[in-house]
Amino acid sequence: MYVHVPFCSARCGYCDFAAFEGMDDLIPDYVDAVVEEIGSRVPVEASTVFVGGGTPSVLPPEQLARLIGSVPRRQGAEVTVEMNPESATVEILEAARAAGATRVSMGMQSALPHVLGYLDRAHRHDTLESAVRRARRVGFEHLNVDLIYASPVESDADWRRTLESTVALGPDHVSAYALGIEPATPLGVEVASGAKEGPDDDVAARRLEMAVGALASAGYVRYEISNWAQAVPCVHNLRYWSLGSYVGVGSGAHSYAPSSGTDPEPIDRRAGGLRTWNHRHPRRYMAAMRQDGVAVAEGERVAGDTALLEWLSLGLRRSCGVELSHEELGHVPEVLFEAGLVEVGASNGRPDSEPQEMHKGRLALTTKGMSLANAVVTELSLAFGEC
Ligand SMILES: C[S@@+](CC[C@H](N)C(=O)[O-])C[C@H]1O[C@@H](n2cnc3c(N)ncnc32)[C@H](O)[C@@H]1O
Repeated sequence: MYVHVPFCSARCGYCDFAAFEGMDDLIPDYVDAVVEEIGSRVPVEASTVFVGGGTPSVLPPEQLARLIGSVPRRQGAEVTVEMNPESATVEILEAARAAGATRVSMGMQSALPHVLGYLDRAHRHDTLESAVRRARRVGFEHLNVDLIYASPVESDADWRRTLESTVALGPDHVSAYALGIEPATPLGVEVASGAKEGPDDDVAARRLEMAVGALASAGYVRYEISNWAQAVPCVHNLRYWSLGSYVGVGSGAHSYAPSSGTDPEPIDRRAGGLRTWNHRHPRRYMAAMRQDGVAVAEGERVAGDTALLEWLSLGLRRSCGVELSHEELGHVPEVLFEAGLVEVGASNGRPDSEPQEMHKGRLALTTKGMSLANAVVTELSLAFGEC
């Protein structure tokens, strides 16, 4: 289950998520509506929970605890809460922990003040360091930090320092994203008008290579294009990339119900599923919950080639790649192997597979392929769309 908290104390210029500032007066009624939605939409216990935003740490501690506590979940479920360093107080951390959170994801973004400034962040690096210490004192062993690289004010040396500071903090999980310029954001408008410089693709590729090197040397395993873990990956996010079922509650939250079983991936890759999303604005969401007890705004059924290609493009984000039949592997364009962008491994991950297992194999992106994932998926789309 994904639980969306749309409130932020200030919206960052690059952010295109369903996040709103200056609406804190809505919080109590919003939490009531989400608790009601949780009760109406979850027939089973959740195996993972992700409370994301927006900024869940701007909620009063008792409201965050109420949200977390109202999700029926399995014993030992992974429960992540996103927090901003400046609002990750001991009170909110303790409330999250007592309600069952097992993991905190902290928006670090950069260790450098001028990069944090460009990104409109309200914290300094020492604020983040204190927040991480507090999270550990409260008992959170599992800690992620989110980083954003390749903003135009960042140099290679700045990014190296951010990576070194990250390693020094020692979180057990790191997510690093290239700055994306979204058209409908203040930064997107400024970049489009030429008022602000945007990121450069080649610089972003180089910074990604730096992250790959630095995090590998520090013992982090890259298990997805933008995600590294010391030992335990984020099980919740792995579910998105495997097209497992998930229920999203709260404004703007998306849900996905696969048509066929998942074991752990779709058994029939063309069967697809139903994707729905809730009203994006908190007021509209709350009105829908009040009037109809349902907040779904729209949906789409995904099937056939589209489903297959979605499964391929999401599954290939993971280092373990996707399992393909021998026949399907035959459709992978030779040029992708020749260019060193993809590789095939035994389906059980061992090079010495038994002959009966050789009728299938795992197609995965190489490190180079991960940097050019969109181009690889476009090639595969052409090849698989025709088969
Ligand atoms: C939607 S935010 C919410 C978490 C929290 N409020 C924060 O800002 O740290 C989740 C993460 O998405 C990433 N993100 C959001 N917009 C992005 C963009 N345009 N480019 C790159 N990363 C982005 C950031 O790393 C951020 O920490």
